[in-house]
Amino acid sequence: MHHYSQGEPTRQGHKGIAEGYYEEEQGLLGFFGPVSHLIKKKPSTRWVEIEGPLRPHMYDLVELPKSPQWQRLLYNRSVSIYKSCCEPSSNATLRAARDADGDLLYFCHKGSGRILTEYGLLTYSPGQYIVMPKCLTHCFVPEEKTEFLIIENHGSHYQEPDRGIVGRHAPYDINALGKPDLQAQQEFLSKQGLEILEVEVKHSGRPTLFRYRECIMDTVGWKGDLFPYTLHMDHIMPLMSHRVHLPPSAHTTFVARDFVVCSFLPRPLEQDEDALKVPFYHQNIDYDEVLFYHDGDFFSRDNLHAGMMSFHPAGFPHGPHPKAVKNIGGKTHTNEYAVMIDTRWPLSVDPQLESVELADYWKSWQE
Ligand SMILES: [Fe+2]
Repeated sequence: MHHYSQGEPTRQGHKGIAEGYYEEEQGLLGFFGPVSHLIKKKPSTRWVEIEGPLRPHMYDLVELPKSPQWQRLLYNRSVSIYKSCCEPSSNATLRAARDADGDLLYFCHKGSGRILTEYGLLTYSPGQYIVMPKCLTHCFVPEEKTEFLIIENHGSHYQEPDRGIVGRHAPYDINALGKPDLQAQQEFLSKQGLEILEVEVKHSGRPTLFRYRECIMDTVGWKGDLFPYTLHMDHIMPLMSHRVHLPPSAHTTFVARDFVVCSFLPRPLEQDEDALKVPFYHQNIDYDEVLFYHDGDFFSRDNLHAGMMSFHPAGFPHGPHPKAVKNIGGKTHTNEYAVMIDTRWPLSVDPQLESVELADYWKSWQE
């Protein structure tokens, strides 16, 4: 369809919106497809009642039990999102894990430690992504209590985003990826006297335990382009324009076939007088949207704390809360750290997640 306009549109999206009016973006294919910007007298988030199951959701994951078992939160045929916790242990024999159901993306929300793999040792700390390709054996050795958000990719393998016109060193440099260190692992295992004698394999959602008499982490060398790696949020250089608010897709960190993972990080706010400084109201028509609040001050939302997770299914517009719009005036920077998972197909909610839902969240856009 060709471009067309009526009435009094803006020349540039997210900019030059007349005082007292609101812009709503309606777009296909997650900010990459056909898109229109509607200028409205009031935000479309001013619903006074919602009848039926579709609504915005907010969950307080801090209230979930701290279990080493993976607790599934949301899922569809291409992705499952879990929360898990692990603690330091004094055991000399360890159990490793292997997931035959998909690539894993661990995001460390709290804690620090090491990950032992057949490719070598990786380390993690809060804000770290760990990409663990499907079926690679790995074993966490926490130094402190650790909490992960886990994004399991059923239908494809994690890839870097298309870097397009910004080149190969933005928004993160390949050299910033944490690579497994085989020698450090061999030294760590012998110094600590650790052995990995069990591997729990998850296949079709069911565990099977493989036992061994000798430590399975016995690789003496390897080569190739399939291996686990890490990326810390501190090593992502967020793209921005000082003149106009860029869409969430500018913050894509990992791409899968049917979903993307984006990182929202501290950055200066737009400087142009007439630039929108909070996320625009929008209907991301083809995608369900999950946002995990990791740390910092969440400037587009009211009454939020770290460890919460919002879920905005497709079907209605969303955007900043009224208080955030009012408060943005004197701010020059954002200080938020959040992980977004945008999924092409609708997500289902696990019952345990419903137990930590904030029931009145749908009212939070009311003045
Ligand atoms: Fe959104």
